[in-house]
Parts: sequence; C-alpha cells; structure tokens
Amino acid sequence: MNDIQVGLIGFGNIGAGVVRLLQDNADVIRSKVGTGIVLKRIADLDITSDRGVVVDPGLLTTSVDDIFNDPEISVVIELIGGYEPAKTFVLKAIEKGKHIVTANKALLALHGSEIYAAAVRKGVEVQFEASVGGGIPVLTAIKSNLAANYFSSVFGIMNGTCNYILTRMTQEGAAFSDVLKVAQELGYAEPDPTFDVEGVDTAHKLAVLISLCFGTNIDFSDIHTEGITNISGMDVKYAAEFGYRIKLLAIGKLVDGKIEARVHPTMIPLDSPLADIHGVFNAIRLTGDFVGPVMFSGRGAGQNPTASAIVGDLIGLSRSMRVGAGRRMSPLGFMDEAIVTIPVKPMADVFSKYMLRFSALDKPGVLGGIAGALGLYGISIESMVQTSHDVADSTPVAIVIMTHEAREGSIQEALSEIDQLDIICEKTSFIRIEENLE
Ligand code: HSE
Repeated sequence: MNDIQVGLIGFGNIGAGVVRLLQDNADVIRSKVGTGIVLKRIADLDITSDRGVVVDPGLLTTSVDDIFNDPEISVVIELIGGYEPAKTFVLKAIEKGKHIVTANKALLALHGSEIYAAAVRKGVEVQFEASVGGGIPVLTAIKSNLAANYFSSVFGIMNGTCNYILTRMTQEGAAFSDVLKVAQELGYAEPDPTFDVEGVDTAHKLAVLISLCFGTNIDFSDIHTEGITNISGMDVKYAAEFGYRIKLLAIGKLVDGKIEARVHPTMIPLDSPLADIHGVFNAIRLTGDFVGPVMFSGRGAGQNPTASAIVGDLIGLSRSMRVGAGRRMSPLGFMDEAIVTIPVKPMADVFSKYMLRFSALDKPGVLGGIAGALGLYGISIESMVQTSHDVADSTPVAIVIMTHEAREGSIQEALSEIDQLDIICEKTSFIRIEENLE
C-alpha cells in the first residue's frame, strides 16, 4: 500500500512537535503501520518563522485549499485551536472526505455534535485523543478498552498550567501571578491564559470526557466553571491544616439520572491519588461498573506529549485505512442513534462539604452570628479554627469552618446573608470538598 498522505493545518508549537515526531520516529511508525505516514502539505499564515524543525519549503503553504483540494491527502490534522476558523476548516475537510485528527478541545466542546454528525454523514473519522490530557491515552481507553462499562463518575486534573501554579503555591508559598508567568514561558498556557486560569480549558476537556463516558452531547454552558484566580496562599495553608490539597478539579458524575458537570477549585484528601498529581502532570480518574476505579496520569501539556497523542491517532487511522476499513467507530464510541440527552443538575442542587473562610472582627458574638446564620440554612459545622490575637482589637481574624455536607444553594444564601453583617470585613471565601473520588 502507498504511504498515508497527511495535511497539517497550524504550524505552531504542537504542529512543529508533530513534524519532528514523524521525522524522528518514521521507522518505528512504519514498523507498526506497514506503510509510511507522510506530511504532504503544511498550511499556516506564517510560513517563514523558524519552528526548530527542518521541512522542505515546498510543503509549506498559506492556503488551506492546497490541502482540501489535494485528492492524495486522506487525513487532515487541525492544530490551529479555537473556534473559528478551525470549525470551518474541519467541516470543509470532512466535506472533502478527509479524516480528521485534532487537539482542539474548545472546538469539540462547543461544536462537537455538528462536527461528529458531518463526519458520520461522510463516513470519515474524527480522532481527538490529544484534546484531553495531552499525551495520556484516556479517550481511546474509554472508547475501546473500557467500552463494556457503565461509568458513574469521571474526575480530572486537566490543566497543566493551573496544576503547576497550585503546586508551586502549595510547595513554596509562591504567589499566583509569579508562577503564571513561568507557566507561560514554559509553553504550557493557552495563547490566552485566562482560558487556563478561569477553568475554561478544563471545562472544554470535561465536556469531551462527559460525552464519551455517558454518551451525551452536553451543552457547554451547562458546565459550572470557576478558575483558580481567587485562591490565596491562606486557602492553600488552611486546606493543608485540615488534611486537604486544593486542585482545579473537573467533576462529571451521574447522580439520580442527572449529570453533575462542574469545574472549580476543590479540596481533596491528602491521601487520595489525585492529590499526588503535581506540576504540569494531569490525571483522570474514572469509575466503571465492572472495571471499578481506574486512573490515568501523565504529561497533560507540552509539545512532545501532545504530538505523541496526535501521531497515535494518525497511526490508528492509518492502520484502518491499510486494511480498507472506512469509519471504524463513531466519534464518541457510541452508535450514533444511542446518543442521549441527560439533564444537568443545577449547581444549587449539588451537595458537598465546604471550607468557609471568614474575615471577621474579633469581638463578642461574632462566632454566634456566623454559626446562627449557617444553622438557619440547615448548614451543620464539622470543625473550625480561628487565628489568635493577643488582645481583641480591630484587626480582622480568620475564622475557618468546615461544614458537613450541605446543599450549594443553601451555602450561597447563607454566605450572602453573613457577608452583610458589619462584623464581616471581606467577602467570605468558600471551597468545595470532594472526599469520595469514585
Ligand atoms: N493549556 C493547557 C494546559 C494545555 O495548561 O494544560 C493543553 O490543553
């Protein structure tokens, strides 16, 4: 069989990694596929900058049509990221009968159903292993090795930038903004780091995971999304005192026929395996009814791990093409007619334990005021600490309360009432706690 001819759209950091991997590991790839995988064209608006890899200048083009209109190109790798023009390019490539490999979680989270439907109509595949967890082979595992299971939950630490920042805040007491700068220099952060630190990138990945685990196309706006920009050194310190570590956690759970879909800073027990995922590493923990809990971890960002996942997808597609298979599997791993709509639980109805950190005046009745308001909303206190003062004065003290499980809506209402009290000096911070990670 002839070599598999591939077109690459987007010659940035990850694109250059793919080019280098295809060059450096050409022999091992050939030994696993039976043919070569050849990059026929590379399209980018900038075809003059040095990407640190040697390519024949004749491959480079500024026109994506050179890829779409080349009948020999059977697979298009989309690596420009973002919603547009990525969506237009992917749909056009599908229309031209080309298989797609993409790392674009933003595109799939918002427009996945349209793209998958177009691919199904045309009988081509859409592969996107690199979109979640960089080099970690979790999506293929869900679609293939674990396909026999009903899943009940998926938890993920899926943003290397945030995990790197939280790790350094925890280990060194470093400040948020200083660490973000380093993460950007190391090439982990998205071009716009607000997507990383505000939790949007993690929510994109959660949308992809939920659709694969539960066979549903979740509406992205239904995912409750909070980032780490409000996490302070004090939160990190108190969490540790109570035996927890703060992680930006993606949570997808099936509870009573509804999905909990949320991304927010979360305190997890220090002895849980996810608490040991440090720096740029990502981890995804899934629970299936027969397999039980399974955890995947590895490098979730960066040029080489992401290129590894992209070329892995290319190899899978090439193997299918070699034996003459058309579309081997629907994009989500479910039969198209089996995709269902599952309602998403409103955040107000979610139950969790909380760490509440009040900044209050140190004077008689303060604790009573706070505890009374919590009690009125049915929120029960599990334990508390207060920073000590030698004498009562006007300097605010930190009162940190751990609650028993409470309804989110009640917590929100109680805190907005407590924050009106004149003994409270700052908006109260609260962090959700997740103890059962199965
Ligand atoms: N910006 C992402 C991260 C990289 O920090 O994990 C890949 O999605």
